Amino acid sequence: MIENRVYPNNVRDEKMLEHLDETIKAPQFKELYDIQVEPVDLEVIRTLVGFAMSSVRSDLDPVLDDWVTKGGHAEGRSLSDGVTGEDMMADKAEGVDYYVRPNGEKYFVRNWGETLTEVEVLIKAREAMHFPLLFGPPGTGKTAMTEAAYGEDLITVLGTGDTELADLVGGYIPTPEGQYLWVDGPLIQAAIEGRPILLDEIGIIDPKVLTAVYGLMDGRREYRITANPNRGTVKAKDGFFVIGATNPNAPGVRLSEALLSRFTLHVEVMTDFPMAQRLGVDPLMVKAAKHMDGQMRLGQGIGWAPQFRELLAYRDVEKMFGKQFAIENLIASAPELERGQVIDIMKTIFGVRYESAAIKS
Ligand SMILES: Nc1ncnc2c1ncn2[C@@H]1O[C@H](COP(=O)(O)OP(=O)(O)OP(=O)(O)O)[C@@H](O)[C@H]1O
Ligand SMILES: [Mg+2]
Repeated sequence: MIENRVYPNNVRDEKMLEHLDETIKAPQFKELYDIQVEPVDLEVIRTLVGFAMSSVRSDLDPVLDDWVTKGGHAEGRSLSDGVTGEDMMADKAEGVDYYVRPNGEKYFVRNWGETLTEVEVLIKAREAMHFPLLFGPPGTGKTAMTEAAYGEDLITVLGTGDTELADLVGGYIPTPEGQYLWVDGPLIQAAIEGRPILLDEIGIIDPKVLTAVYGLMDGRREYRITANPNRGTVKAKDGFFVIGATNPNAPGVRLSEALLSRFTLHVEVMTDFPMAQRLGVDPLMVKAAKHMDGQMRLGQGIGWAPQFRELLAYRDVEKMFGKQFAIENLIASAPELERGQVIDIMKTIFGVRYESAAIKS
């Protein structure tokens, strides 16, 4: 069941207004947008991840059309404040607050809960040592929101099935002189420097390896480096923080109960379809993606839906190569088994039958 709701966000408006730079007049401009909230396939998530959940959703609700100072590490600017032609998103997204990620990309904020943006929640959570676990399909913004919240301070470990203990805590490396030198790994670096560490794709890291974070995430706040007794026990400095991100449906994902219980904030990160539209993605493609996503979550036939990443790529590809090229490209990016259904949905939405992109003789 899909329901339409208007979310009153007066509280957030007030909060944002408080932050307005005194020297700049805020326009008296507010808008309310209808948003659609889809149900989440609780069973799938619960089975694989095994915890209660809430969801990050966007409101694109009352927005301010001016300069808003954001807290946190990354710097906030308005879309109308000195933004150059560097991005065509700016005009389309006017009024939506954003943070600049270390790679220079903008991250447009959404809501987590009633009054705060997800970036604000992440920043507050760090102060209170409530570790967040972000889960959701690929390309919905899990990594991007974490980078937006912590900026250059963030250390990221991209987990794989082959991630070893040494990849987290460090190990010995050979020197040109033929000796061995101990080098701290990113987890130890984050602990001693009091920095946040994102364990990206945490669900595919071997749970045995992840026991390394247990002591740092509970009351002990320390890790004993057994591989190098001289290095001894490392204490986590204030500011040390662990964020986990995972796609719960990826093959081989498993998270131990002990680890899950150390993450006290659990949230599903979903694609923000209204925001994708505001960022310039063809509304018809957004409609198609939203439909597919809804069907996928209800377990109704289709097992794939374009998420934020695919939608932004669609926008850019369409701009470069045209609509037919972009639609066929999107069809080709779907898993092979799903392409037939994607083609049918595109035909229903666009009224024309497009095929999967192919280079033929
Ligand atoms: N709120 C947002 N504002 C701007 N861009 C966004 C936003 N959310 C996602 N994106 C874009 O979508 C892309 C995918 O986001 P990201 O890499 O964070 O996804 P992810 O959930 O970490 O995916 P994966 O599970 O594959 O690691 C990013 O490159 C970013 O450009
Ligand atoms: Mg990611």
